[in-house]
Amino acid sequence: MEYVKLNTGAKMPMLGLGVYGIDTTESILSAFEAGYRSIDTASGYNNEEIVGQAVRESGLKREEVFITTKLSNSAQREGRIEEEFAQSLEKLGTDYVDLYLIHWPVAEHYVDSWLALEKFHKDGRAKAIGVSNFQDYHLEAIKKVWSVVPAMNQIELHPFLTQKPLIALCTAEGIIPESWSPLGGGGGAKDIKDNLLTNPTIADIGKKYGKSIAQVILRWNIELGIVTIPKSVNPERIKANIDIFDFALTPDEISAIDALNKNQRTGPDPDNFNF
Ligand code: A2P
Repeated sequence: MEYVKLNTGAKMPMLGLGVYGIDTTESILSAFEAGYRSIDTASGYNNEEIVGQAVRESGLKREEVFITTKLSNSAQREGRIEEEFAQSLEKLGTDYVDLYLIHWPVAEHYVDSWLALEKFHKDGRAKAIGVSNFQDYHLEAIKKVWSVVPAMNQIELHPFLTQKPLIALCTAEGIIPESWSPLGGGGGAKDIKDNLLTNPTIADIGKKYGKSIAQVILRWNIELGIVTIPKSVNPERIKANIDIFDFALTPDEISAIDALNKNQRTGPDPDNFNF
């Protein structure tokens, strides 16, 4: 495993398990067995209890696992931020999370939501706080009020959506970028994942190292300093996805993958979402 240092000084694994759609402990336990120590959930995934149960069943100490969860859009709109955060902690069976994120920049609410997260950070219940799906102007808006700089911006990112300008902005602010749907699988557009996971450029790079296309994509994230959280329910793919810490891509290979960008989203557009 490789780690990144957050702006809080905390160490976070560069690769974790995204658990969107996972509703049993089985996959999470197989991830712990394979060496995963970071789990990314959200209030909106309705599986925080399952994550908490898996952490307890794993026999790992709480401090050995990095837990991320997220504030829902409905809690932002309905003014239930404190209530939802307390529920998340209770469901996870813990008195703190390692990282708490605003899941989406809900218009007219996300700036106030940021100030609420700062309180959770200051009272110690959120060791680090950050945002998700924030564009440049969302970051600029919270920058006007923040007294804590977000530790993280978790965004959709894969070789067809490389997000270079946003990554540069995050880096300039000391905000670590994190990719959701690194394999292009997170939205309804199945063809993006299918095209990505059969891409000949990435396949050729993989042949050189004896790695799959998915493994090369995940390694490309690591090389770029982007924390990544591939989702899988399948123990074999879970294991394969963490088997990326024994090779390194060359600068030319990184550039070749960067060049596949077509600004193509698989998930919702943060400029225009209605949930
Ligand atoms: P499964 O859960 O059956 O493994 P993303 O993290 O980009 O959203 O991608 C998740 C999707 O990609 C899921 O459909 C998952 O299916 C699939 N997936 C995860 N890891 C791999 C892999 N190594 N190879 C192929 N597909 C994968």
